[in-house]
Parts: sequence; C-alpha cells; structure tokens
Amino acid sequence: MKNKNITKTYLKDYLPPIFCVESVELTLELDSKQTIVTSELTIYKNKKNIKKNSLWLDGIGLELISLKLNGLCLSKKQYIIKKNGIEIRNVPDNFILTIQNSLSPENNKAFQGIYISGKNICTQCEAEGFRRITYYPDRPDILSNYKVKLIANKKNYPILLSNGNCVEKGILENEKHFAVWHDPFPKPCYLFAVVAGTFDILSGTFRSKSNKLVALKLFVSKDKKKHAQYALKCLQNAMKWDEDYYNLEYDLDEFNIVAISDFNMGAMENKSLNIFNEKYVLADPLISTDEDYESIESIVAHEYFHNWTGNRVTCRDWFQLSLKEGLTVYREQQFLASTKSKSVQRIKEVIFLRSMQFIEDNGPLAHSVRPQSYSEINNFYTYTVYEKGSEIIRMINTLLGDKLFRKGIKLYLKKFDGKAATCENLVQAMEEASKIKLKNIMLWYDQPGTPKIRLDAKFDKNKIYSLKLKQLTKESSKNTPQKPMNIPLRISFIDPVLGSVKSKIKHSKSKSEKTHLLNLTERETQIQFTGFPKNCSKPLIVLNKGFSSPVQTIFKYSLEDLNNIVKLEPDGFSKWNAIQELTLRILEKRISGKNCNDELPIYLESMNYILDNQIEDESWVAEAIKNPNLAILEQRLKNIDPIAIYHSRNWLDNFLYINLETKLIRLYRSINKQDKYMINYKSIGKRKLKNTVLNLISSNGDESSLEIAYKQYETSNNMTDKWEALKVLNKTKSELREKALKDFYKKCNKNELTIDKWLSLEATH
Ligand code: BES
Ligand code: ZN
Repeated sequence: MKNKNITKTYLKDYLPPIFCVESVELTLELDSKQTIVTSELTIYKNKKNIKKNSLWLDGIGLELISLKLNGLCLSKKQYIIKKNGIEIRNVPDNFILTIQNSLSPENNKAFQGIYISGKNICTQCEAEGFRRITYYPDRPDILSNYKVKLIANKKNYPILLSNGNCVEKGILENEKHFAVWHDPFPKPCYLFAVVAGTFDILSGTFRSKSNKLVALKLFVSKDKKKHAQYALKCLQNAMKWDEDYYNLEYDLDEFNIVAISDFNMGAMENKSLNIFNEKYVLADPLISTDEDYESIESIVAHEYFHNWTGNRVTCRDWFQLSLKEGLTVYREQQFLASTKSKSVQRIKEVIFLRSMQFIEDNGPLAHSVRPQSYSEINNFYTYTVYEKGSEIIRMINTLLGDKLFRKGIKLYLKKFDGKAATCENLVQAMEEASKIKLKNIMLWYDQPGTPKIRLDAKFDKNKIYSLKLKQLTKESSKNTPQKPMNIPLRISFIDPVLGSVKSKIKHSKSKSEKTHLLNLTERETQIQFTGFPKNCSKPLIVLNKGFSSPVQTIFKYSLEDLNNIVKLEPDGFSKWNAIQELTLRILEKRISGKNCNDELPIYLESMNYILDNQIEDESWVAEAIKNPNLAILEQRLKNIDPIAIYHSRNWLDNFLYINLETKLIRLYRSINKQDKYMINYKSIGKRKLKNTVLNLISSNGDESSLEIAYKQYETSNNMTDKWEALKVLNKTKSELREKALKDFYKKCNKNELTIDKWLSLEATH
C-alpha cells in the first residue's frame, strides 16, 4: 500500500543546519492541564555563505502564544505556521528568539513530549519529542547549552528535576515553587528531560577515580525505596567498570534515575536524568525473577554508558542511530561479560541475535544498520540497528585487538567530544588510532542481510589442510550482486585423540597457533594450514569461534564431528554451538517425520558427557541441555507446523529425561537442597540449571512430576523458582495448575509487576 501523504527522509539529502542554537533558556510553568513554555533561543547563522535567511522550527501539538525577535513581537506576516512547525522569514545572522507556547500534558497520549504518568509530569524527547514541547530545530546535530526554570505547585510537584546541576531553588506565591537547572554540556534537544512530582528517593554515592564524589539518586514511587537498592548497586558497578576498562569517568556532580510506570520503552539516557520504566528499576526477591534482575543490570548499565557514547558524542542525524545504540549495546555486553562467564554471556547474545535479528534481516523487514531512508524514525529502533550494530563494533574490536580498540575509542571520543558524529567518523578514528585499515567494514552498515559463508575442506597425505571459503552474496533489489564483506573469522583445529592442535598458515610469517583469525575480504578465499603435530590424523575445524562475526557458516559436520567438538573443544561457546547444531538436526528430522536413529545415540553421549563432566558452570550446562530457542529452530524449517514442532520439542525433552532420569533427578535434588537465596551469577546459574531440569522432568506430564513442580511453587522463597514451577504447571490442564494459579493470583494482585506475570500465564495457557 502506498500512502502519498507520508514524507520520506533520505540520508543522501543530509545538509548541515544553516542556523544553529547556541543556548536555550527555558521556563516551564508546569501544570497537568495546561503548561506554559517560554523559550529564549540564542541563534546564529552557521552557514554565512548561504543566502537563505528563513528559519524553520519544528513544532507539533502546540499553541503559539507569542513570538519575539530581539525583543520585538513578530507580526503574522513575518512567519507562517504550518502543521509541523513555523517558518520565520528574513531573520538576521545573529538574534534572540523568544517563543511562548502552551500545551496540555494530560491530553498528550503520545508518550512523547510532556505527558502524565500517574500523578507526575515527565518528558520523553528521543527521537523527535522536543518539538512537542516548544518550537525548535529538532535535529540531533544542533547542540546547545540549556538553562531550565521549572515552576509548579509545591504540594503536587514537590520534586522538580531537569538535566545538569540544580543552581537555584525557591518559593513563589500561589503555593508554587521553582527550581533552576543548568547543564554545562552542550546537547541535542533529544536529551532534554524534565520530571515533576512526588517520589521517594534512594540516595547513594560514587567516588570517582579522580576522587570526585558523585551523588546518585533514584526517584521511585512511594515506599519503593528499598526495591531500588539493586539498581543502585548496578549503577555503581557500571560506573566503576567504565572507569576501569575505558578510563571514562562521569562528568557531573549528580546522576539521577527516575522510575515511572508509563513509559513506552525500557529506559532513556537523558543527560544526568535517566528516565526508566519502573520495572527496570524496582526489584524484590518475591516480585522479580532472576531474568528481571538481569534486565535491570543491563539496562541501568546501557543508559549509563550512553553518557559518553551518545551524549558527549552524539549522532549527526537519525540515520546514524547505530553509532550510539550499537556501540552502547556493545559496551553493555562487555560489561555483562565481566560479571559472568564470557562464553555464557556470548551464548545469550548469539541466541538473541539468531532468534531476533537474523529473522529480521532475512525477511520483509530487512534493512541495513544504517538505513538510506525512513518515513518514521521510531520504527528504526530495531534488532538490526542495535544488535547487528553491536556486532559491527565487536568485529572491529576483534580485528584491532583490545588495546588498539580502546585506543580507537579514546581518539573517537576526544575528536568528537561535544559534537555530532557519523558511523564513518567512528570507523576512521579506529583506523587512525590503530593504523589498521578496516577494508569494507562500512559495508556492514549499508548492506542488509545475514552473510553466508560456504566452506570446503580437504586434508591431504602431506598433512596440509586446504580450506576454501566462499561468501554467498545475495542479489540485491536492484539486481546488482552485493559486495563481499570484511569478515573476521576465528577458527581452530581439534584432533579426536590429541584435542586442540596447533597449526600454521602456509606462506605466512605467523607462528604456529591453536587459533587463527582469518580476515576475509574477498568473495573467495583459499587458505592452507600446515604444521600439524605428526600424530595428528584428521584435524577437525572449529568455525566462527566465539561467534567472531554475525554470519551463517555452511560446512558439513558429521554427527561424530559435533560430538568431538562437544568433548574436546575448550571454547565454551563453540562447545555449546556444536550441541545446538546436533539438537537442531534431531528436531528438524523429527518434525518432518523422519527417524533420528543415527543422531540419538550420539546426542545421548554428548549429553551424558556434559552432565558427567563439570564443564564451565551451571549456567552453561543449563544452556546446553535445554531445548533450542523456537525461533532459531523455525528458521531451519521449510514448512512451519506449530503442532508438530510442539510435540517434537516435548518428545526430545522426554527422551532426554527417560534416558537420564536418575542423573537428572539427582541433579535437581542436589541443587534444590541449597536453598539460600542470593542474587549473584553463581546462585542464578544454579537456579537456572535446576529449573531447566524441572522442565525436563515435567515433560513426562505425569502426576508425580507435576507434584515436584507444585512443591517447588509452594515452598520456594523467591519468584524465580515459583515462576518456573508455575510455567511448568501452566502447560498442563491439571488440578495442580488451577490450584497454583489461584493461589498466585490471590497473593500477587496487589502489585502491578506480579499481576503482569499472572496475566502472561493465563494468556500463554
Ligand atoms: N535511547 C534508547 C531509548 C529510546 C528508544 C528512546 C527508542 C526513544 C525511542 C535507550 O538507550 C535504549 O536503547 N533503551 C532500550 C534498552 C536497552 C538496554 C537496549 C529500551 O528502552 O528498550
Ligand atoms: Zn540505547
């Protein structure tokens, strides 16, 4: 369907602003019915040589009260009000524009601009919400200094917050009060924020590396202070990590997080005033699952990390969204990896990438990390922009190594501090700092689709391993073949008897190594490996170790190969990837009605090996023995038959349970005994493994296994174990399910976050 009223914005049309705003002085007389905004903009002509002297200001849903240029009221002839803004004609090169307008927060249901959450007033400006507050050139490449005066009724809005430092406060007549905030760092208007209302405050501090004491405050609804303790701890950990790893300190004296219950997204990184959906701030063992705790950790860290990657250095235009989001997701992933096992963190990332981003990239919604055009930027906060964007940064890190990568980040931040940048600017800073050419890396930003690599290998009598790698590039829409990408592919070799073996790339100066980083830049590459140990009979290649690039590799592994990788490969990610492949092959066959007689014995051997040998940790084992993600499975199927998929998955769980019953029951009991509840990586891992096993046990569907689940629901002291037991019971039509759900409803219906959980159980059932 073509809609002629939709206007598109194109990357190729980008032009720097003709007029810029040096400083903004805002006064907001806040009231839920009608808010009055007075904005004083100091404007200068940025492009003196361009003749154009009309100024465009965006504005949506605003009532204009008055407009003054250098103190003089403009007559209606001097400007035109349009649906999306105002055009002011014949403006000088330097001037002060004073705008007064009104708006109604309570009638604003867009979750953008100024709106009401509960009884509080708050804002959301990214991407284009500032134009719903006042008339302004709402684009991220205009950075200005903000001074904001907030005026509101003292009783209804005792707390008045904006970006930067509070420089003045006072009482006014008519039961009003005011606060003045000054942000010393220039910023684009999408990082502007205001919050007014009633909150409880959890305070903490952070002592920075250079010995500055930063005041941390979390604003939450009444009596929820203690539930914000965990988020505070996460914030402190993230601040410490950014100092330790990137040498990046927080730049202001205070950092505030406000938790509100009506928020479209997870959270927003407004300068020094992050606004969060309260479910990513509030946590309590009886309300939150381990997954909820993990989301809090990652989102608090993510928004904090934006302070440097997004806020101090921002995006030139919204096509560059991945410049801040991809890089910040990557930093968040690095931080999370530092708090747990590296391979478990990578496994989670890859499951997410394969199950969400790969589908997006290979379906009708495919788009490049940096799109060429958009009609609505809010629709581009996608898995591709975020997750694939992060993978690009990871590949650069892999190609440069940690030291040079950090040098590159440092240079990028130095060069563009206080400025708006592009994806090229980041890549060029990386090249400049490392003196390494990143050939074709920019293609990752511009070419959509998941690259596929087909590999063929031969090991000859002279013990030379010849590898042929071919990038299978798709025809793009204009029928021009896509260009080959820069793909860093980490590989290694194992021998069924010797385990990991060293080898050498033929005709290269490199040493004999256990792992190699192949840097593919051509459509076809041939590489030979030599120098295998004399008694190495048949080296087996392990591909894309640690998922060094977000591609699909096509290589014929035998079942025995996969089993060997599970047993012999030291890298936890590749081990998991091999067991995934084995499991997916079984499910694929079973779903299409074929027998799996060849696969099942090997599958059991691998699973036995995993359960008998303490590999990695509990979280890893849980990932290895659980049924693969549904979306990942579906991508391998030609026909999707939901009923067949459902039965096959259950059949596989049951197959595993029947064959390893004693081991699994023993494992369940041994973990369930240790009932001291703690929130840390180890304890979370144990609960994850225990509940994965509970799921396998219940695949039997018999009364006794449901009783185990019911007992866990009844006796556990935390939401994770209760929730997992409920999910197991919820798959059945048993009386125990009815009993448990009734009880859960009775206990949870006072709390919004738990009632959400109850609703999701009923809906899934
Ligand atoms: N800048 C975004 C929030 C945002 C998204 C604002 C879309 C406006 C439109 C923020 O940094 C973000 O990415 N938040 C994520 C969570 C994050 C951990 C990926 C979110 O809100 O889901
Ligand atoms: Zn973000």
